[in-house]
Amino acid sequence: MKTQSFSKRTMTCGDARAEHIGSTVVLNGWVHRRRDLGGLIFIDLRDRYGMTQVVFNPQEKPELFAQAEKLRSEFVISVTGLVRERPEGAHNANIATGDVEVAVNELEILNTCKTPPIQVADNSSVDESLRLKFRFLDLRRSRMQENLILRHKMAKATRDFLDKEGFLEIETPMLVSATPEGARDFLVPSRLSPGKFYALPQSPQIFKQILMVSGFDKYFQIARCFRDEDLRADRQPEFTQIDMEMSFVSRDDVLGVSERLMQYVFKTVMNIDIPVPFHRMSWEESMNRFGNDKPDTRFGMEIIDVTEHVKNTEFQAFNDAIGSGGAVRGIVLPGCAGYSRKQLDELTEFAKKAGAKGILSAALKEDGEFKSVLSKYLSPEQIAELKTAFGAKDGDLLAIMAGEAMFISAILGKLRLEMGKRLNLIDKGKFNFLYVVDFPMYKYNEEEKRLETEHHPFTSPKPEDMHLLETEPLKVKADAYDMVLNGNEVASGSIRIHSRDLQKRVFNAIGISDEEAEEKFGFLLNTFEYGAPPHGGIAPGLDRIAAIAAGEETIRDVIAFPKNTGGDCLMTGAPIAVESDQLKILKLKVEG
Ligand code: AMO
Repeated sequence: MKTQSFSKRTMTCGDARAEHIGSTVVLNGWVHRRRDLGGLIFIDLRDRYGMTQVVFNPQEKPELFAQAEKLRSEFVISVTGLVRERPEGAHNANIATGDVEVAVNELEILNTCKTPPIQVADNSSVDESLRLKFRFLDLRRSRMQENLILRHKMAKATRDFLDKEGFLEIETPMLVSATPEGARDFLVPSRLSPGKFYALPQSPQIFKQILMVSGFDKYFQIARCFRDEDLRADRQPEFTQIDMEMSFVSRDDVLGVSERLMQYVFKTVMNIDIPVPFHRMSWEESMNRFGNDKPDTRFGMEIIDVTEHVKNTEFQAFNDAIGSGGAVRGIVLPGCAGYSRKQLDELTEFAKKAGAKGILSAALKEDGEFKSVLSKYLSPEQIAELKTAFGAKDGDLLAIMAGEAMFISAILGKLRLEMGKRLNLIDKGKFNFLYVVDFPMYKYNEEEKRLETEHHPFTSPKPEDMHLLETEPLKVKADAYDMVLNGNEVASGSIRIHSRDLQKRVFNAIGISDEEAEEKFGFLLNTFEYGAPPHGGIAPGLDRIAAIAAGEETIRDVIAFPKNTGGDCLMTGAPIAVESDQLKILKLKVEG
């Protein structure tokens, strides 16, 4: 085994072409596959650029052949040899180097490899915890290599675009005091100030606003953010934002530059045309039509409100809901009129799991029969009106709910997504971007019995609603917006507050007193009195966008070294216990 000097590559494993026939080359790489065929040994030699077939012939070089017999998957080797055309019938159109092969004259084994617990050459699915434990091997697989290359290209295209637009990339600190972005902070104990803690930034929010006060005008940062929250497929405790902030802008300026950024990135990296401007939909419309604030517009099956059409029926559940200010809404499941009892029970089960008491179904049979408990309570005219209101045709199934409008819409929204998947209505090749705008400023936290901001407390209320801040805060709309891609929230932002007085009023509504505001955010409030310009911004989540672009179900697959859903790094074992000496220096004690 050579550890010091070795023959260095003259080309990568993805380079050899017909034009190199007759030249001697050196390749360095990993043994992807070894095939022993017709007395010859064929190695597919791999690096991140591609794969080249190298051949060992016992007649030509017997000692070399004996050495090649020792080669196993994932050995690291250097080969020197002659590029030649592959014999007729052996060309491989699936790889770029497929017209040629390298007849080996020299072989150096640079390192061996134990039997790998993950087969690099085989892209079949492997248990994720094994993949995360042996991430260094998992990252050698073509899927992960492609994902990380895609992510790199997206980050590069982002930098290129924003630089061209006049944005400056400025780094903000990682050791900060807590920023209220709605999640728990990761804390870092201070050695120099025992008993005190830094927080890792949930986002650069406050610093980017202060950069505006400092006159930097257009800022961005591909910024790492940290949040101690429950993890799921689209959430990691540390993740990356394309964080942006601009001065002297209105909402549409921010939305405009962000949609052009997405257009540029998708075109440059994947040659996909994304039309701009993105559709802008109000939060209210999104909640009503799709039952959530991140509508997947790749398919229809929208929620339809039929309250007006069923207000004079004999059906008690409808009358109760309407009488108490609620609504009757539903979705049309196309071609599902033939659902069996079991399938209908499954729908009810789904709705119940989502928190509903139940769901009503009505099958529009091909022979015209309206099969539903409703047929006892609705006249033929009312049934006909209902069908028209739903835009349903024979063969369809109606799934109907009555109750508080937002509550039933949320459940129908979940059912819509589930049925969209089951009925294969979602075109996986589509990238449907849109903006959801005009979010409410506040929401009520039932558990803590208090108001909290829907976005973050630095978001400006809409000017026309400011007078309601103290009296009817739940009616106040914010100048906040989300970017949505295929039913995922991929970016979030707002026009900010830049006045001390307004900032305090917004804090007061969520229970932060003037004193507390001064204590925690005095430095920010101060800046507002030293010439803070009007400003706003947005932060697209790079991990989420890359995962969707790569067609992955989870952002873990576009992050080199992610944590599992328990927050652990299975490769390094983090988080780990620390030596008591270390705790002593920090003047910390661990309980229990
Ligand atoms: P927000 O908290 O909505 O806004 O985050 C912006 C975007 O960051 C991504 N994101 C995440 N990605 C992976 N894992 C997570 N745990 C995670 N949390 C958020 C999402 C989200 O849309 N400072 C504001 C932005 C602003 O107002 O400019 C902020 O952080 O894609």
